[in-house]
Amino acid sequence: MARKIIVANWKMNLGGKDGILFARALLKELEFHGFMGETCSKKVVLCSPATLLDFLGELLIGTQISLGAQNCGVESYGPFTGEIGASMIKDWGAEYVILGHSERRIHFGESNKEVALKVQQALNVELTPILCVGETLEEKGLGRTEIVIQKQLDEGLGMVDGADIIIAYEPVWAIGTGKIPTLEDIAKIHSMIHDLYPKYPLLYGGSVNERNIADIIHLPHVNGVLVGKVSLNVQSFMSLLKNMEDK
Ligand code: PGA
Repeated sequence: MARKIIVANWKMNLGGKDGILFARALLKELEFHGFMGETCSKKVVLCSPATLLDFLGELLIGTQISLGAQNCGVESYGPFTGEIGASMIKDWGAEYVILGHSERRIHFGESNKEVALKVQQALNVELTPILCVGETLEEKGLGRTEIVIQKQLDEGLGMVDGADIIIAYEPVWAIGTGKIPTLEDIAKIHSMIHDLYPKYPLLYGGSVNERNIADIIHLPHVNGVLVGKVSLNVQSFMSLLKNMEDK
């Protein structure tokens, strides 16, 4: 059985000395509870701010824990002040990059076209994109959820086909709000995405926590979760991992 994937999205947190202490404490717990073993049924991916990738890249060598970034540039290198190219992220030891997160779409105006360019940049250097899609509350209210998601997928994936990509369904209204869709709705959207793009593993994200994980993780076509807030606390994150076994 394929390993369940748990992606920790630290967002703009834990990017300095606090992140170093946190990562060391987390790794100790992960090791103690058997999440580092090759036979572990879960794959943990830590997506830190870019400032910590170098440090984490070293720290995670020889562990089963993977490293990811939260964004990359649409260009590889050159006069793009403040940007970080996919190859730089790869150099730091990352294997994954979150792309098209709703916070980037909302606060930085990222379009599907831009997301598609970033997906291509990531694939060019063999970084696995974790492409985020999801509807806003307004779109949900208008009954446009499926249309919005299909457009984000079709445009965001562009011409790539069959490449190493992960898709994360994250309803915008569920992120950081404590609200989640019904299990039926999560299953429905996952099955729709699976029908459209059957080759890609699918994650659910948006207010996943220690209490709801056991129900979500066992839904059909849910290959893992993308976790924000709960990944910022060692004990909560460890409880989430342990509670995945509850069913
Ligand atoms: P949350 O964030 O778990 O805090 O809702 C999820 C995400 O933004 O990926």
